[in-house]
Amino acid sequence: MAGRLAGKVAVITGTGRGMARQVALRFVREGASVVGCDIDAEAAQETLEIVRAAGGRMESLHPLDLFDEKEAHRLLEFAAEQFGGVDIVDNNAMQLRLGPVEDMSLADWQLTIDNTLTVPFLVSKHAIPHLRARGGGSIIFMGSAVAAPIGAGYAGNLPLLPAYAVAKAGVLRLTVALANELAPWKIRVNAISPGCVATPNGLSFYGQEGSEPRRVVESALLIPEMTAPEDIADAMVFLASPEASFVTGHNLAVDGGYVASGAAGPQRPEDVAAYAPIMAELAVVDHWPTTGVRPA
Ligand SMILES: NC(=O)c1ccc[n+]([C@@H]2O[C@H](COP(=O)([O-])OP(=O)(O)OC[C@H]3O[C@@H](n4cnc5c(N)ncnc54)[C@H](O)[C@@H]3O)[C@@H](O)[C@H]2O)c1
Repeated sequence: MAGRLAGKVAVITGTGRGMARQVALRFVREGASVVGCDIDAEAAQETLEIVRAAGGRMESLHPLDLFDEKEAHRLLEFAAEQFGGVDIVDNNAMQLRLGPVEDMSLADWQLTIDNTLTVPFLVSKHAIPHLRARGGGSIIFMGSAVAAPIGAGYAGNLPLLPAYAVAKAGVLRLTVALANELAPWKIRVNAISPGCVATPNGLSFYGQEGSEPRRVVESALLIPEMTAPEDIADAMVFLASPEASFVTGHNLAVDGGYVASGAAGPQRPEDVAAYAPIMAELAVVDHWPTTGVRPA
């Protein structure tokens, strides 16, 4: 298949379900060969069959626990053996435990940090020699709106997600650190930060259509609907492709304006109306003083 990723080899982690399955389908449609993996063997096998049935070139290692460093290393070696090298890494896999800090066990905290922050570190670490050998490449991390900078609004304070938010903030910091470290080898490193995506996992958290949690989260967006996994796949193709050859160290929000609005959602007409008299008054002030003389 010809396309924007023609001839490229992509490693995608956690292909058993959700966004990674969509990304695998998109990548093969764009001409890439894909290597997937998942700790959940049955789900990963299902994705493999779906992608191959769509005519895509894909291999998969499953079950594979990426928190085991030897396994992370094996995945990258396998990809290079199967398809001759590695050009693209989508660090998608994660696991999390929910709960307020006060009630969270050390084991739950650790599981979240291990699988959401340490796994992408291990995968990237073992990808670097392969990407360097190809003369460049693209590593893409999955951030999240929950990792929004302090002061950027409600998104970073979603209830029950402290361990996950900390892990994702770490992922974004790792993105920038690696973008700097790997620039000499033409390896670009970027992140995508979704808000609320309609994957099975996302829906279990944000609720089905019509539910109260769903109303709450959608009212926090400028585009008030759940993101489709396909929207994430579109962004992923862009960052993986030569179209993004000058983009590195960037965190691309694909979140319907979640963070941009401070999770406050669209401007309320009554709030805008409250400012109308002030705006009318300010409009007579010359803000572009070319002569230095205020109009009479
Ligand atoms: N769904 C959302 O609303 C949302 C929002 C923001 C960010 N994200 C991020 O986007 C990415 C994908 O989200 P999703 O909803 O598709 O997730 P998901 O839970 O559906 O898929 C994650 C996959 O990773 C696999 N996995 C977990 N730990 C693993 C390990 N140690 N080794 C191998 N495989 C492992 C899981 O089995 C699962 O199939 C994640 O990084 C997530 O944090 C999701």
